[in-house]
Amino acid sequence: MTRLFLFALFLLAAVSLPPRPARAWGYDGHRIVCAIAWDLLKPTERAWVEWILDAKGRDAFAESCLWADEFRRWSVETGPLHYVNVPRGANRIELARDCAPMGCVATEVLNQAPRIRSTYSRDALRFTAHFVGDMHQPLHAAGYADDQGGNLVKGKFMGLDTNLHGLWDYGMLESTRRPWREIADDLSKKITQGDRWAWGGGTPIEWAQATLAIAQSPMVGYGTTYTLTTPPFDLGQPYADTNLPTVYTQMQKAGSRLADILSNFLQGLPPPPTN
Ligand code: ADE
Ligand code: ZN
Ligand code: ZN
Repeated sequence: MTRLFLFALFLLAAVSLPPRPARAWGYDGHRIVCAIAWDLLKPTERAWVEWILDAKGRDAFAESCLWADEFRRWSVETGPLHYVNVPRGANRIELARDCAPMGCVATEVLNQAPRIRSTYSRDALRFTAHFVGDMHQPLHAAGYADDQGGNLVKGKFMGLDTNLHGLWDYGMLESTRRPWREIADDLSKKITQGDRWAWGGGTPIEWAQATLAIAQSPMVGYGTTYTLTTPPFDLGQPYADTNLPTVYTQMQKAGSRLADILSNFLQGLPPPPTN
């Protein structure tokens, strides 16, 4: 009787838990982007990030970059801020057509970043750091609304059921079985001054346009620009081998650009107050 009761309680708990959040760049993707950015910041800039977050160190900053996906679970109206979709056949993002009225991933960085300095807002910092990551994930900028950015494009990867969006959020990264800090350290070390110059400048909208070109490449769509009617995919190591280099450079670009944004908004400040 007691055991049955406990089992019933367990079932109730299991079905009433909120669904797992969509993991934009997966958890590790966001951690890696932010760890790379941290490595590129100057000591005073790091001190300000720590002061704004009220938490110390690279790991704490990396974890803060996941918050926007947590928040999305409780505040569903912020969902469209994490991505932008274009109509089939369009190969440019047009903000008036494609961006939701409250914003999308191509515009939200411009909205949030100035608030880092003007109000030292923890949420502005966490949103900025997260959305710079999202806009470098091809299925976030830009997918198609009819397949929810690849979420409805189903198939198998390494023998497991998944979808195209998930492959890019976390599937390929997880398939490497490398701890995120190892990937972050490696990618961070390999960024050259030339990369910093090449990836510097431009606007978030231009970065999103460049990400869209990747999303529509045959590389992502396993041979063609993917469509909803492409039969279920069955992909394995060759897909990861082809696309992981893109995943890695996209995370490097995101980290480098996030560092530039933070430097830009935190530059010229004296060290933060100590308390
Ligand atoms: N829902 C609809 N489109 C989406 C996208 N591109 N990314 C994540 N979630 C979505
Ligand atoms: Zn997101
Ligand atoms: Zn996602």
